[in-house]
Amino acid sequence: MPAKYTLLPLSKDSGRSRNALGRSDATKRSAARLKIFALLITACLFYGAFRLGFAARLPPFFGEDIQCSGENQTIDGLPSHYTLPSGDKIPSVALGVWRAAKNEVGRAVKTALCNGYRHIDGAWIYRNEEEVGRALKESDIPREEVWITSKVTIHSIRQNPLAYKSIKLWNTFHAPDDIEPVLDESLRRLGTDYLDLYLIHWPVAMNDDGSYDKDLTEDPYPTWQKLEELVDKGKLRNIGVSNFNERRIKNLTANPLKYKPAVNQVELSFWLPQPELVQWSRENDILLEAYSPLGSSERVRDSLNVPEVKEIAAQTGLTAAQVLISWHVQRGTIVLPKSVTPSRVRENLHVVRLPDDAFEKLEQAATSHKPSRGSNPSKNWGLDFDIFD
Ligand SMILES: NC(=O)c1ccc[n+]([C@@H]2O[C@H](COP(=O)([O-])OP(=O)(O)OC[C@H]3O[C@@H](n4cnc5c(N)ncnc54)[C@H](OP(=O)(O)O)[C@@H]3O)[C@@H](O)[C@H]2O)c1
Repeated sequence: MPAKYTLLPLSKDSGRSRNALGRSDATKRSAARLKIFALLITACLFYGAFRLGFAARLPPFFGEDIQCSGENQTIDGLPSHYTLPSGDKIPSVALGVWRAAKNEVGRAVKTALCNGYRHIDGAWIYRNEEEVGRALKESDIPREEVWITSKVTIHSIRQNPLAYKSIKLWNTFHAPDDIEPVLDESLRRLGTDYLDLYLIHWPVAMNDDGSYDKDLTEDPYPTWQKLEELVDKGKLRNIGVSNFNERRIKNLTANPLKYKPAVNQVELSFWLPQPELVQWSRENDILLEAYSPLGSSERVRDSLNVPEVKEIAAQTGLTAAQVLISWHVQRGTIVLPKSVTPSRVRENLHVVRLPDDAFEKLEQAATSHKPSRGSNPSKNWGLDFDIFD
């Protein structure tokens, strides 16, 4: 039998030469035909799927990829809502949209809404409110059935000249009257005339020159009063804070507030479980919202590989992400997992009460290592103090 490949002396382009010269023309031709045939079959399959109306099941570039399976998205044995002092009921699981990019966030929001989520956690500074608003509108779910949270961010606006330019009216925390134009901008982008919850994103008040205003940072009562006014005006239904520690909340609530902060949105994860803050907030009737509940994109892989998490996942038949999300709700907090991956968005709304021993084991594991914060912009913002001290 004639050999198909002939060994040639090695030269500079020996690999190419060997292939080009050693392979029979007939073999190359049949390989090329096979490739064209495979391409044609693939194209026909996609075209057929389109014609049959399966576009929604194809990858995003072929269609909208919104899958409403209606299966498994349940909250079993744990609260689906918490009641705030206003009497409003806030859903315990939200879709977080920080770092949800353009052309991804809308699809994520629609996937979430059609699979049962009724809570979207956003912020002006996430720069995706317009797409979130469009998705809310296109989902056709009545406005009053969806809980929308946004946040007022002073510092980030001042750090980013482009963002700053787009809302020239914004000055500093010194001028609480300027909050309303920023809120109006969020309302317009989200396509709504009220927010269910508006948070002071960071406990840092800045001056015009970029330095921080010590007095207002320590006691943001003037800002709070403005938020209270916006509640009375009907633009906000509930107000709260974010990234406040116990001391900062005490400073704020030492004032004669008309409305108490309804929630405090803080980092809570396996790496930073903050048991003292969880307990103090429970005792003081301030609902905590767990941000970066899976460890954020930097640590999500590590979180899902924690041995106790994997063990409980195997024991309960849940995924590792579902174990962590369930643990947060079982701790009595709201949880805000972010995902732009449709299958994960659906996965994350399957929340189940963990067996008591499993819950205790995870709580013990989370609280017995050195806590480690994922998000602390103090240095980046040039502050000479730590926001969390
Ligand atoms: N108030 C504040 O200062 C503050 C700060 C940070 C965050 N937040 C809020 O909290 C939300 C969540 O926090 P976060 O975005 O930092 O982090 P996170 O929800 O803990 O983690 C998000 C990361 O996990 C991945 N992920 C999600 N579900 C998964 C699953 N089932 N399996 C595997 N990977 C999964 C996501 O990937 P894909 O998206 O690629 O699927 C993404 O990389 C934010 O979106 C925001 O709304 C607030």
